[in-house]
Amino acid sequence: MTRRIILLPGDGIGPEVTSGAVRVLQAVAARFGHAFDTTTELIGGAAVPSSGTSLPPRTLEACLKADAVLLGAVGDPAYDRAPREQRPEYALLTLRKTLGVYANLRPATLWPGLEDAGPLKAARVAGTDLCFVRELTGGLYFGEPRWLDLSAGDSLNTLRYTRDEVTRVAHVAFTLAQGRRALVTSVDKANVLETSQLWRSVVNDVAAGYPLVRLEHMYVDACAMAIALDPRRFDIVLTENLFGDILSDEAGAVVGSLGLLPSASLGGGVGLYEPVHGSAPTIAGQDIANPIGAILSVAMMLRHSFGLTAEAEAVEGAVGGALKAGARTKDLAEPGATGNLGCAAMASLIAGAI
Ligand code: IPM
Ligand code: MN
Repeated sequence: MTRRIILLPGDGIGPEVTSGAVRVLQAVAARFGHAFDTTTELIGGAAVPSSGTSLPPRTLEACLKADAVLLGAVGDPAYDRAPREQRPEYALLTLRKTLGVYANLRPATLWPGLEDAGPLKAARVAGTDLCFVRELTGGLYFGEPRWLDLSAGDSLNTLRYTRDEVTRVAHVAFTLAQGRRALVTSVDKANVLETSQLWRSVVNDVAAGYPLVRLEHMYVDACAMAIALDPRRFDIVLTENLFGDILSDEAGAVVGSLGLLPSASLGGGVGLYEPVHGSAPTIAGQDIANPIGAILSVAMMLRHSFGLTAEAEAVEGAVGGALKAGARTKDLAEPGATGNLGCAAMASLIAGAI
């Protein structure tokens, strides 16, 4: 069986981390005897010069026909003032919406050896193992009407959530929690927002079907603080779209670097896998980016799209082994440290261990 994967390297450091991830995918293919057929397509700012849009129709069609999609990053300051259809972020949002991937899994794990990599005290962060379940196709990112009138100095976005949208993503959170430490923390701002009041009520209804899972509700401001103060207390953190975007970056700092975090976007027919970090234009092309977020996204693809658990564990084991042995990209190292690995060297080390 050949599995067809569309690669969308995108902008900034996207191409570097994607080729690192592909190196690891090839190592998995060789070791376990699988056939992965990869095709690269354009997305983001990288697609605009040749097609006039950040999401060319052929890219979207290829993704819809694929078995899985691996994306690097989108975002290019050159398009900050471009019309919405040319903005790199628009491409990613349209891709998520068209694929119907409403549940975005973002695990944040403190890998042994990285206790001192981040700014927080090792004793507080050691053992952190949480996973965001972020609603991905609703909320402020997609709500209509929306507009900007710069000259009038006025603008509008719409925040709307329906029962069905909350129900389906909540089921994903509770199902995952059952296989973990059986705690769901549902994040909202129900003291202020009506959408959050609906969110809380629907999550309570869904929870009734999972008697073995404990549910707690937390306001988003309190949650932001708790993630820094006591990250180990969290298991599954269920959020609406914007809250999950913000809190997952914070979790990157907790576990040592945003460059470590992978994600899986599920719920439609085709899974979309991408590191949580952005295009990081200021370090693009220097071979100093961390490929681990992209590599762990491949592990999530193997597990969630292909059901290849041993293969996913082999990738995660190779990442863990490299980090335990002291391999560090610049983002993980002490300032001024020498002997850091570049993006390609880190990916080769991990691929070699597989
Ligand atoms: C992310 C990114 C995206 C988001 C951007 C690039 C549209 O920040 O995946 O976290 O906000 O969802
Ligand atoms: Mn983000």
